[in-house]
Amino acid sequence: MLSTQVLRCDPTSISFDSTGKPKVTSQDTLNSLSIAAKNLVDLQPVAFPTETVYGLGALALDSSAASCIFSVKGRPPDNPLIVHVSSPDMLHTLLPSSFKMPQSYELLMRRFWPGALTLLFPSDPNTIPSIITANQPTVAIRMPSHPVARALIALVNAPVAAPSANSSGKPSPTTAEHVRRDLSGKLNVILDGGACDVGLESTVVDGLQEDGKIRVLRPGGISVEDIQETLQEGFQDHALVPQVLVHRRDYRDKELEAAPTTPGMKYRHYSPAAPVTLLMTTSAPPEKVVPSKAESFLISLKNEMEPSAFVKVGVLVLTNSILGTLTLPVVDGIEWRRYELGPVDDPSVTARRLFDGLLTLDQQGVDMILIEEVTETKEGLAIMNRKGLYDIIYNHYTTVLLFVHPNLETDQGLPTHQPLGGLFNKPDDFKGGTLRGSLQLHTKDRVFFCFCGSSFSHTRAFAFCSTNQISSRL
Ligand code: TXA
Ligand code: MG
Repeated sequence: MLSTQVLRCDPTSISFDSTGKPKVTSQDTLNSLSIAAKNLVDLQPVAFPTETVYGLGALALDSSAASCIFSVKGRPPDNPLIVHVSSPDMLHTLLPSSFKMPQSYELLMRRFWPGALTLLFPSDPNTIPSIITANQPTVAIRMPSHPVARALIALVNAPVAAPSANSSGKPSPTTAEHVRRDLSGKLNVILDGGACDVGLESTVVDGLQEDGKIRVLRPGGISVEDIQETLQEGFQDHALVPQVLVHRRDYRDKELEAAPTTPGMKYRHYSPAAPVTLLMTTSAPPEKVVPSKAESFLISLKNEMEPSAFVKVGVLVLTNSILGTLTLPVVDGIEWRRYELGPVDDPSVTARRLFDGLLTLDQQGVDMILIEEVTETKEGLAIMNRKGLYDIIYNHYTTVLLFVHPNLETDQGLPTHQPLGGLFNKPDDFKGGTLRGSLQLHTKDRVFFCFCGSSFSHTRAFAFCSTNQISSRL
């Protein structure tokens, strides 16, 4: 057991000159950075803030340093790591000499670096240890914009491999306190640079395929729309603008999905301990659904638990949405824990708060978590941001899909619903996150339904179906 130090860093005290060299005006921050840099050079992992989420860093070009990341996180060895650089020069030291930068990459780096965009590059096995790439032919690289991250990498003057600083399978940390709770005793240093601005991981992009198309492997802090716009503006000849495809939304690749390199595929990511339900507040209700009720669902859930047990239900809602302004219904034996995701018209706040919400509710010991769907609900809303977040929730958080109509009666509380007989497994299964089956629900004349499946692949199978397709599977 190590004694973990949390060291404060003031990001506003750090600036960079034109060559990317950091200047630190706060002595405390400089001390913290120096201690962290020394740990890295001594091949010890260090947790540090980036603009997306906190990272668990180690020297990327040293196999034994990088191997510590896997043991601290309990990460499967076949899941490759992102390498972080502090300057374009550092990037070029990693690339094979024969590599010619595609125009799409030039444009994307100019617009989004430093920032929340990770690009795949061909990996030179003489430079990049196989533990980083998990023996894949590519290496994922990004240049973070957080001053603490950039300064730390610049100080050690070497690329730093860093996955999110959480135990494998848990939501990514967005504060130093999240990291401390999860990994304390397993590393020497956590740099505390405050809460992360973006709050979601970087967007992982593969633009190396022969067809020149841009494939988004993991939606993240940079939206697909922004990527599209950058390419459209950058290519003189419109016929040459590469198409942007989002994995699992626009294309599927069976071989790719079997590979651990595809984010969120082989390994379950970002799961809090409690099962998560996505409340789809804008999806059209399916046809031919038999009505039933929400309050009795909660009561039956309660009845199936130990007689004295409370069911704690965590709810992540937008502050001023229809759902967010509802009073949660008082049901005997059900205890609500509410966490606000910010206003409807500021998706960046929602992005920033999402992981904190999941981790906070988990810490409060909730039995299940409901998350309100985040889609465009107001004119003039920045659709691109919403879409990014929506993709992420779709891709990563759904263990149960619950469809609710937008026009909920505001005096009704949550919609009334109840499980269909026999489809709902025992609460024990539910608590263990293995809920399976399907539920139908309605509110007055409006009818909805939900799928329950803890298995990632099971729920994924439904995520992009039209409602008709979904209803035919019931
Ligand atoms: O924002 C972020 O990206 C954060 C901060 C710390 O930079 N890092 C992060 O790392 O989220 P991690 O390891 O939690 O997620 C990296 C994802 C994984 O899903 C991994 O499979 C994928 O990137 N990845 C890494 N190298 C890859 C490669 N060569 N090909 C395809 N996917 C790769
Ligand atoms: Mg991660």
